[in-house]
Amino acid sequence: KKAYRKLALQLHPDRNQDDPKAQDKFADLGQLMRCVLSDEEKRKQYDAYGEDGLKEGHHGSHNDIFSSFFGDFGFMFGGNRQQQDRNIPRGNDIILDLEVTLEEVYSGNFVEVVRNKPIAREAPGKRKCNCRQEMRTTQLGPGRFQMTQEMVCDECPNVKLVNEERTLEVEIEQGVRDEMEYPFIGEGEPHIDGEPGDLRFRIKVLKHPVFERRGDDLYTNVTISLVEALVGFKMEIVHLDGHKVHIERDKVTKPGARMWKKGEGLPNFDNINIRGSLIITFDVEFPQTQLDEQQKEGIRSLLKQGSVQKVYNGLQGY
Ligand SMILES: *[C@@H]1O[C@H](CO)[C@@H](O)[C@H](O)[C@H]1NC(C)=O
Repeated sequence: KKAYRKLALQLHPDRNQDDPKAQDKFADLGQLMRCVLSDEEKRKQYDAYGEDGLKEGHHGSHNDIFSSFFGDFGFMFGGNRQQQDRNIPRGNDIILDLEVTLEEVYSGNFVEVVRNKPIAREAPGKRKCNCRQEMRTTQLGPGRFQMTQEMVCDECPNVKLVNEERTLEVEIEQGVRDEMEYPFIGEGEPHIDGEPGDLRFRIKVLKHPVFERRGDDLYTNVTISLVEALVGFKMEIVHLDGHKVHIERDKVTKPGARMWKKGEGLPNFDNINIRGSLIITFDVEFPQTQLDEQQKEGIRSLLKQGSVQKVYNGLQGY
């Protein structure tokens, strides 16, 4: 699906205005997407027999999935649409928050959202539409005219709004950022005389109990014991997709020390082959038990750390 999206952007007719075949290429791609990528069965046929394998008539509609990709076009080419349709009345846009977990941002996901949407259906009778004010001129007598303003309407077939349930598939792309929007063109509020607005899902990344996100980097805290801080340690951190990140130190680890694990951060939204870092901050827990005189002497002779007492205000630069 990701590859499709990339290709669709490349082949989009808006971008290839010198290529007379741009429209065809783009339509082919759409056809392929509809028939193949969205259908397990068709995909097998395509893998086995290529395009010919699909020729024996596929009439099913996969508009749901296809329109989920048109959502992305709204994202990229959003400006155009609004300009073209300035005079056509439009229903309101709907913005819905879509809460996603950090796990989903790390691995990507497809979520299904069930939407109850009113659809315009034909109904018996007529209704007034396209109403506008027009000037009417009447001749009252020789040399006398009267101009009046009146409301003129057309007659249109009657419509009623019927609720229809629809499932929308939203792709949570790897590395998606907070507040990004996924629009579904035409899935917003309907307008009886015009076209519907858009439905936009706005990504809200939920807080995670272990990791904190800053850009593509992930931050976490690890508490180790004083003994581990002095003699070194090995441990594993379970990552967002369950894989284990191995951590090993044999040097002294000070409280507040940081360790960078390159490539263990989040995938970058624009290029998922690039990943941020995982940054681990260590905290040292001291023993609760009190030492007797002999143990104290033992530690003194073991560490041989002289006095480093220093009184200072703790502010940097002074
Ligand atoms: C790590 O600890 C610091 C200091 O207590 C805190 O501000 C930060 O939010 C913690 N990070 C995570 C990921 O919990």
